[in-house]
Amino acid sequence: MCRPSIASLAGLEMPAVVELLWEGKYRDGVRVEPSRDAAPLETDEVHDPHDAPDGGPSCRSDWSNRLVLGDQERVLPALAAELAGRVALVYIDPPFDTGGAFDFRASIPGAPDDTPRIAVPAYEDARGLDAWLAWFDGAARRLFELLADGGSLYVHLDAHVAHYAKVVLDEIFGQGAFQREIVWRIGWVSGFKSQARGWIRNHDTLLFYAKGGRPATFHKEYVPYPPGYVRRDGKPPRGAGYPIEDVWNGSDVDRMDSIQIVSFSGEKVGYPTQKNEALVSRIVRASSNPDDLVLDCFVGSGTTAVVAEKLGRRWVACDASSIAVHTTRKRLLRLPRIAPLVVQRAVTSPAHASLEGAPRDLDARVAIDGRNATIELASFALPALSVPEPVRASVDHWSQWLDGWCIDWDHQGGALNAGSRLWRTRAQTPLRLSATHAYGGPGRYVALVKTFDVLGGMTTKRIDVEVA
Ligand SMILES: C[S@@+](CC[C@H](N)C(=O)[O-])C[C@H]1O[C@@H](n2cnc3c(N)ncnc32)[C@H](O)[C@@H]1O
Repeated sequence: MCRPSIASLAGLEMPAVVELLWEGKYRDGVRVEPSRDAAPLETDEVHDPHDAPDGGPSCRSDWSNRLVLGDQERVLPALAAELAGRVALVYIDPPFDTGGAFDFRASIPGAPDDTPRIAVPAYEDARGLDAWLAWFDGAARRLFELLADGGSLYVHLDAHVAHYAKVVLDEIFGQGAFQREIVWRIGWVSGFKSQARGWIRNHDTLLFYAKGGRPATFHKEYVPYPPGYVRRDGKPPRGAGYPIEDVWNGSDVDRMDSIQIVSFSGEKVGYPTQKNEALVSRIVRASSNPDDLVLDCFVGSGTTAVVAEKLGRRWVACDASSIAVHTTRKRLLRLPRIAPLVVQRAVTSPAHASLEGAPRDLDARVAIDGRNATIELASFALPALSVPEPVRASVDHWSQWLDGWCIDWDHQGGALNAGSRLWRTRAQTPLRLSATHAYGGPGRYVALVKTFDVLGGMTTKRIDVEVA
């Protein structure tokens, strides 16, 4: 039996499903549509490994993965013009309305372990429930349009909003599209956490939907049996292992503790709400195929982009915070090989926070030898006020302020075409401070140097190059 909804009883025009009402959902009895106002996306950087001397992974030549700085409200409509109905998998880990504000903790490469980290504001998460619901409803509707039929959506939340979000998603996708509620146990409990009053909060919730009701792709996942495992009847086991249930990290055989509670996790990059690669890999492996398109419009430190890259999926990632885009780029360029990548910006995105935007002091020089040009970084300085004195005192060489740099050897204006990428492969690896390029013929060229510093700032310098 189909019961009338609260809104229809109140004379509002709406579908006959159980629905949630929030302030601003209807205006004059009519459902308010989410904004589909697209922002132009401008390309700032092109990283095409096919141009690099060591080549890159083979990849379809008509596609570049995309990392976009901007608010999903303006970025998703821009993507829809090209990608509506083409996305195989969306994983999102949006702000949960926790009431908090989050800082990125920047560390200095090569500095002693006890060097304090520098706090760089990343994002705030304190809308209040009504505003959060209106905001989430808009994001979910835009994602629905981008998903292919049978495409999968995973929404990573916690108990602040998960139950409300379920009702919102049922309304958009249809109740029949709901597949599973996954409970991800965050991990073992100790120290400060064990002192909390009441039951200790120790799980996040992931809601899994398939557009149209049946996932086009689902590869069942297994946790391998431990070495020496035998069945109760003493025989060796058949099959791939224990099939994975909807409670993750809930047993000794399925270990996937949050990296936030594993003190020495090598994955940590200083982003406050970073999720495990193992968690996102499980989703990407199960719900997509190689070359499928994976989307995350709240990418944070870049976990989804890195996982999709490693698993050979095409991907689009977006975040409104420039330190998130910086961290994602940093993680990607540290990988030994990447597929072609463009870094874009929604043109309306707010100006960078002051620490990132304040001018830096960069000196770079060129030396010519026949057709070869060598560019060397000669010095770099962050603005004095941006770094606390104890951090400054622990730095021996100015290159420690840099995560990496790139050179476009024949800059034609517009985006930087990164012909050389000089990047630390690990935090402790010294940064190479010079690179050489052999020009194909004599002429005057413009080389563009772009540095990426530990606070997420970018500095460019044009250098005139003349080869005979
Ligand atoms: C919980 S974090 C995501 C963490 C990510 N899963 C990871 O592994 O690092 C949420 C992210 O959403 C971003 N964000 C918040 N509001 C946004 C918006 N309107 N558009 C795009 N990104 C937004 C924040 O900057 C933050 O990086």
